[in-house]
Amino acid sequence: MKLNIAVLPGDGVGPEVTNQAIKVLKAIALEFNHSFLFKEAPVGATAIDQHNNPLPEATLELCKSSDAILFGAIGHPKYDNNPSAKIRPEQGLLKLRKELGLYANIRPVKAYDTLLDKSPLKQHIIEGTDITIYRELTGGIYFGEKHLSEDGNTASDLCEYSKHEIERIAHLAFKSAQSRKRKVTLVDKANVLETSRLWRKVVTDLAKNYPDVTLDFLFVDNAAMQIILNPKQFDVILTENLFGDVISDEASVIGGSIGLLASASVGDKYAMFEPIHGSYPQATDKGIANPVASILSAAMLLEHFELHEEAELIKEGVEKSLKLNITTPDLNTTYDNVSTSKVGDFIADFISNPKDTNINFANIHLGQSTII
Ligand code: IPM
Ligand code: MN
Repeated sequence: MKLNIAVLPGDGVGPEVTNQAIKVLKAIALEFNHSFLFKEAPVGATAIDQHNNPLPEATLELCKSSDAILFGAIGHPKYDNNPSAKIRPEQGLLKLRKELGLYANIRPVKAYDTLLDKSPLKQHIIEGTDITIYRELTGGIYFGEKHLSEDGNTASDLCEYSKHEIERIAHLAFKSAQSRKRKVTLVDKANVLETSRLWRKVVTDLAKNYPDVTLDFLFVDNAAMQIILNPKQFDVILTENLFGDVISDEASVIGGSIGLLASASVGDKYAMFEPIHGSYPQATDKGIANPVASILSAAMLLEHFELHEEAELIKEGVEKSLKLNITTPDLNTTYDNVSTSKVGDFIADFISNPKDTNINFANIHLGQSTII
């Protein structure tokens, strides 16, 4: 298959983790005779520095003319600490989501058997957890009208949803549930918010088209508690933009590191793949950022194009790296310094030699490393 992939590395650790995903995709292309063409463009704080615009027109054009987008991370502390900055890196990502109509953000959360001891949660609680979060991505409070009074003392953000916006993501969530454990949990705040009541009504009506799927509801405050009390009760979680943002960071604790969580943002025409972690500025260029979320996002990209065998191989490579402790310091208690690019090398090596033995893999890794 021939794919043109737009690469938007962004800020902080974005470039270094994205490089590992590209490395792994190149190994896949070689093994399976695909042709992946990567074209890079600036976004976020990097783009503000270069073009005074977090999403330059040329970047948007590149995304529109590509088959898929691989996104790194966005954000810089100089903006976080300056609430009055008019141009902000995050605007680049939000505009990209809106312009490309990426209304469904899909975030799988899994407890890997080999990492059960890495989560602060008890093993018997998280073991076997396998959740997919469907977060609405182009509506709600993120995109509603914003207002700051002239005296600067009052502010508001409007939260708005239409039936159409709810239906299109709900269909995707139900379809996904059909090939999983056939359960959708709608997370909302219907006891307080009008928008949540609309979500409940629309989703309840739509559920009639999926008689094989069970629908249940949780208020978001309760859901936040249930996710860490008993994560195994969930299959597909469907929720609006802001709740999905919060719930998915929380759910990452189950896997042991936010550095493991990948995501796909899809719409009717375009698709973008990005780790859920942010730009982690303190780690920039230190080689300590976990590239697994970015690499698994690349696997989601392949799945999107029905390249299931290829995606599966990446996931196997990731699992093997976790099993052999070829992981960055967020997860590693055995080796002190397995770098970001070393993890990428290992997984790319696995793709070229998947039949090799565990011991050889450990040796390949240790042999190449100048650090451990
Ligand atoms: C995410 C991020 C973004 C969001 C930020 C960077 C705007 O936290 O993708 O989860 O809030 O959606
Ligand atoms: Mn977030």
